[in-house]
Amino acid sequence: MAVKKTLTALLEENKGRFISGEEIAEKLNCSRTAVWKAVNQLKEEGYEIISIKNKGYKLSENSDVLSEEAISRYLDGNYTIKVFQEISSTNDVLKKMAVTEHADQGTTIVSDYQLGGKGRLGRSFFSPKGTGLYLSMLLRPDGSVIDNLMLTAQAAVAVYRAIKDVTGIELSIKWVNDLYFNGRKICGILSEGQASMESGKMEYIVVGIGVNIYEPEEGFPSDIVNKAGSILGKRSEGRKIDRNELAAHIIMEFYKLAERKTLAPEYIEKNIVPGHDILVIDGTKVRNAHATGICDDGTLEIIEADGSKNILVFGEVSVRLDDKDEIL
Ligand code: BTN
Repeated sequence: MAVKKTLTALLEENKGRFISGEEIAEKLNCSRTAVWKAVNQLKEEGYEIISIKNKGYKLSENSDVLSEEAISRYLDGNYTIKVFQEISSTNDVLKKMAVTEHADQGTTIVSDYQLGGKGRLGRSFFSPKGTGLYLSMLLRPDGSVIDNLMLTAQAAVAVYRAIKDVTGIELSIKWVNDLYFNGRKICGILSEGQASMESGKMEYIVVGIGVNIYEPEEGFPSDIVNKAGSILGKRSEGRKIDRNELAAHIIMEFYKLAERKTLAPEYIEKNIVPGHDILVIDGTKVRNAHATGICDDGTLEIIEADGSKNILVFGEVSVRLDDKDEIL
């Protein structure tokens, strides 16, 4: 186990470069047979490792298996990262860890696949294997629910910045917590937490982020095919990125922004909602309104159908873009 973990770290550090079996054995303080066995185990787990006699082993540049070792390579700071290849829901597991293990702020769960990915308002979140990034980050913030409402908006900006840094692609933000690319939703955010009824203070908050990096080879399921999109298209057809690098960028940006008391400017600059007619979805009721702006605390300023002004703190809206029939 220790050999496999250290080997993973070594191969990730030298991604795209050959390292001789002898050098690996020396660094890992084990036999070359043990190295060979660990390499085979990693190959079985999906790592693309090229073995050439007299040259050694190389982790292919295209290899993209999520791991603690690979994410940590890109991280600067103190985080506890746990990576799963399969999980029920990263939010659910982290919430449990927050209570039963008293996990600290900075604890982050990343998974390649979620069997029961959760969306907002009790919906499910499609979380297939190998194409997305599903992660949840734990905070132990000061203050009440109201004091922490901006966190979801800061998380949206963290994703915006991380994707821009890693891919150069600029997404749009849709109030309150979705990210869009080419008119398709590519990221959703679900924040959950627990507050003390005695102090009124938050005990913990879990911010969960799901990003569709690639479109599944078989396409999106029929119930979301008209709405869901991906950043890079099908893996077999387009550009590839290292999801570990993207995860690290999201984690670092998010925890940095979570400390700030002011809303990151991109949340307003890149938001597609202001200036549009919208449908406000309020539980089972839907009403027409016009969005006029995003306030400094991330709330949405609207004009109701009767002409009165209103501020939306939570909720969900649909937007009809002026020149298109599309509803986002
Ligand atoms: C939404 O768009 O309705 C929110 C989707 C949030 C999905 C993420 S994926 C990681 C984390 N774990 C979950 O079960 N949900 C969130």
